[in-house]
Amino acid sequence: MELLPGELEQIQRDTAEILQHHGTERRELIPIIQEIQEKLGYLPKPAMEQVARALDIPEVDVYSVATFYNQFRLNPPGKHQIKVCMGTACHMMGGHIVMDSFERRLEIKEGETTPDREFSLERVACVGCCALAPVVVVDEKVEAKVSPIRVDGILLTFEIEKSEQEKEQEKEQQEGGTEE
Ligand code: FES
Repeated sequence: MELLPGELEQIQRDTAEILQHHGTERRELIPIIQEIQEKLGYLPKPAMEQVARALDIPEVDVYSVATFYNQFRLNPPGKHQIKVCMGTACHMMGGHIVMDSFERRLEIKEGETTPDREFSLERVACVGCCALAPVVVVDEKVEAKVSPIRVDGILLTFEIEKSEQEKEQEKEQQEGGTEE
């Protein structure tokens, strides 16, 4: 995932600050990466490298711990977080087809984030409304009985919203320019 301008410096500063509150023993690894994720929303590669150097352990060890526990995410959360339920009921009702549709439409795989960071896609276990299977949770909203056509509809709504916001911003900039 490409970093945004100024993001690397921010990651380095935040990671250094977190490292200052910890010792350099290997047992500090999990608490450190937990704190980084809390602060940054995910575990960026440069942060993992910095932690490995500080604890004097191979980078691959940090990476293995981060991928072993599913509480850690290696990609930044998208502006819109799409969670496809893969619990038994949803799976039986075609949850994998729904996941497949999102993957194709967004051109990313589950666990990834689109390069513009608009969407992140993940699988979740039962979200507790099996009667509505297959279920997708988009941001905080539960979408029931989702079909591939509904996937297009969900994404289209966000695309329209985004283009309207952009138009609004352009208009504001133009008006601001005229006033000067
Ligand atoms: S299995 Fe998806 S809501 Fe229960």
